[in-house]
Amino acid sequence: AQVKLAPTPPMGWMSWNIMSVNPNEKDIKEMADAMVASGMVEAGYQYIFLDDCWQGGRDNKNNIIADPLKFPSGIKSLADYLHGKGMKMGIYSDAASLTCAGYTASFNFEDQDAKTFASWGIDYLKYDYCNAPEDVATAKLRYGNMAKALRQSGRDIVLGICEWGPREAWNWGAEIGGQSWRTTFDIRDKWNDTDGKGGVGIYNVIDKNAGLAEFSGPGRWNDGDMLNVGLKGVKGPSGAFDANGCTDAEYQSQMSMWCMLNSPLYASNDIRTMTETTKRILLNKEIIALNQDALAKQAERKVKNETWDIFVRPLANGDYAIAILNKASSTQNAKIAFSDLGLTAKYEIRDLWQHKVMGKANQWAGKVASHETKVFRLKKV
Ligand code: DGJ
Repeated sequence: AQVKLAPTPPMGWMSWNIMSVNPNEKDIKEMADAMVASGMVEAGYQYIFLDDCWQGGRDNKNNIIADPLKFPSGIKSLADYLHGKGMKMGIYSDAASLTCAGYTASFNFEDQDAKTFASWGIDYLKYDYCNAPEDVATAKLRYGNMAKALRQSGRDIVLGICEWGPREAWNWGAEIGGQSWRTTFDIRDKWNDTDGKGGVGIYNVIDKNAGLAEFSGPGRWNDGDMLNVGLKGVKGPSGAFDANGCTDAEYQSQMSMWCMLNSPLYASNDIRTMTETTKRILLNKEIIALNQDALAKQAERKVKNETWDIFVRPLANGDYAIAILNKASSTQNAKIAFSDLGLTAKYEIRDLWQHKVMGKANQWAGKVASHETKVFRLKKV
């Protein structure tokens, strides 16, 4: 895999959750402006990821083109606009003839489309797997062909494999040249799948990715799908699941764990109208620093029982980060001896959500609200 394309998890904003079938240059430019003005770009969210439904078919030379009504100035002009703001641009296609939403896709046009994307100044491709054969061998072949086409396109373009789990892309994604892979079906704006409606929630993704630590590293990331932070029940493209959204504690847990587990960070809320709470969560630089840490070691789950999930990861400067997640439906009292997590020294304990040092000790005791995650940075003393 080309590690240099994504030495740390890619970060940005993805259009699907709020724009769905109508992404367009006016709204995308507004979003980019808001990304700069809100401090998102400065915090590391460099990309705008244009998702499905931008396509307008092919021209008489079979070159893929953008919908001229949605993108009257064309994609190159939009990419130039983003680059001018110090940002990068991602685009979307699919390893079949049609995308999930039924738009023109790249199967059998891999080389031609990769060259087109390169000529537009595209920096990242999200490559989906709707309408494609179900077997693993074909998926490997089709993703491999696109990876090769991107490598030969004349431009550095990250390949984000958007295969949602059945073909276990973590087993082969890096080998065929991808930099990340989804691990579950599309995440919904909810905590878990126990509401009887099906679909994947925040905790389901955490539980899945916790078991995939060995596949993650520089240039090869377990993608937990978009951040729901700030959606608050926005009715997603697939509708019904998203009625009530999550609590702020749940959004904070998602941000905590996507960072602990080194998932790419794709904000998907409306950056133009973010609340202060949403900003506080998405722009927590001490939490983002875990996701972007140079050691790039996905956290390991050390405890999993009825109430708690507890994770530990080493950091580049010798510190450790620990995350304590309360799965219960009420506030719980935690009492954790660090030695039970394999951390045998005494540590200065810094709370990365309160942004303050809590003391020096070899344990932590305190309250954790329902579905809240405490994240501490431990420095040996
Ligand atoms: C399925 C993907 O998982 C989503 O993230 C989104 O890209 C849609 N397809 C678009 O059709």
